Amino acid sequence: MSQTHLVAPSLLAADFLNLERDLEMINNSEADWLHIDIMDGRFVPNISFGMDITKKVASVATKPLDVHLMIVEPEKYISAFRDAGAEIISVHVETCPHLHRTIQQIQDTGAKAGVVLNPHTPISAIENVLEDIDLVLLMSVNPGFGGQKFIYNTLVKLRNLKSILDQRNLSPFIEIDGGVGLQNAESLLREGANVLVAGSSVFKSEDPSKTISLLKSIERERVYI
Ligand code: DX5
Ligand code: ZN
Repeated sequence: MSQTHLVAPSLLAADFLNLERDLEMINNSEADWLHIDIMDGRFVPNISFGMDITKKVASVATKPLDVHLMIVEPEKYISAFRDAGAEIISVHVETCPHLHRTIQQIQDTGAKAGVVLNPHTPISAIENVLEDIDLVLLMSVNPGFGGQKFIYNTLVKLRNLKSILDQRNLSPFIEIDGGVGLQNAESLLREGANVLVAGSSVFKSEDPSKTISLLKSIERERVYI
């Protein structure tokens, strides 16, 4: 039996001059979450938008907001993003010297807590908090920009993560972000991912709503060898 996976279109690739139109498209689509990328120009070499725009988006969006904080000192802004409407808040392990405390802080607001790993960051960096988190996000590109090429080693890393989680009988969401589209979705699901973030592959396609449906309809097939 295949389990349903979630699709989270990334707003970063939307048309900001027609944001409401794109948000309506997502509301009416089969998307499960709306992925919101917050960039500060310090942790990542790009600046996106902040809590005020997130709040405006939340006032129109009907899907849960999945907020990905690519910022230094994320602990300073957790309650602001929760107040702005975030349902899931994910922080990068590379930005959190007191990761366990930051996870508690997110959960204390009532949001789900996710931890994000850059492509070079080993799974071992989060081994001691796996019991505490609701979501693990593996970056499959270096964070900062949409439209980059998927890093193939993510599949190996994902397989390792899934096997560690299975051994410990844990089942946080496993989300993949960066260069995800119809060409690699099936492999990612097969290796254990269950949330697919998709920016360019959705918004730059001819029919974004249909692309979301196609990403949703891919079956996860466990291959036993
Ligand atoms: C990259 C962001 C991604 C980005 C994905 O730093 O975290 O969420 O929007 O965009 P695509 O799907 O185009 O790689
Ligand atoms: Zn993201």
